[in-house]
Amino acid sequence: MHEISASGDPSLNKASFYAQLREDVSAILTGERDWIANTANCAAVLYHALRDVNWAGFYFLQGEELVLGPFQGKPACVRIGPGRGVCGAAVVQRQTLVVPNVHEFPGHIACDCASNAEIVVPLIVGDRIIGVLDIDSPVLERFSEEDAAGLESIVACLLSASEVGG
Ligand code: SME
Repeated sequence: MHEISASGDPSLNKASFYAQLREDVSAILTGERDWIANTANCAAVLYHALRDVNWAGFYFLQGEELVLGPFQGKPACVRIGPGRGVCGAAVVQRQTLVVPNVHEFPGHIACDCASNAEIVVPLIVGDRIIGVLDIDSPVLERFSEEDAAGLESIVACLLSASEVGG
């Protein structure tokens, strides 16, 4: 099994941490282009490497609706309607959303009551959004713009390494 070398190393600043994590993700995707397999392993790497995270996974667009994909964490809501929740808002706005306190986000969908902060990164192929990466944390203000930049680079790595489904 591939070792996650970036896992929780407190001596790394966030940029270095994400550079290392991107190498971990890239290594685990090497030689495999299957979209479900790669998103599943990516969710596992993120879930185990990121500190203070209680859910990490993907939703894929089917028509106008987001449908649950590979994830790590507690069972989650399966379908998210257009524009609903943080995930739907990220699709509508076509940009990463960093939510410091989900209880202050209008329409937030609570899948795990332990979640207090969230980050959602859209998966964009050409000009098409095919889904989102969603990560939840029990820690308020867990995610910053540095996390957004780091996770966007990991999503870019995932998309370029895979035969994108859907
Ligand atoms: N909180 C998300 C729903 C998905 S779960 O967090 C896994 C939202 O508001 O869109």
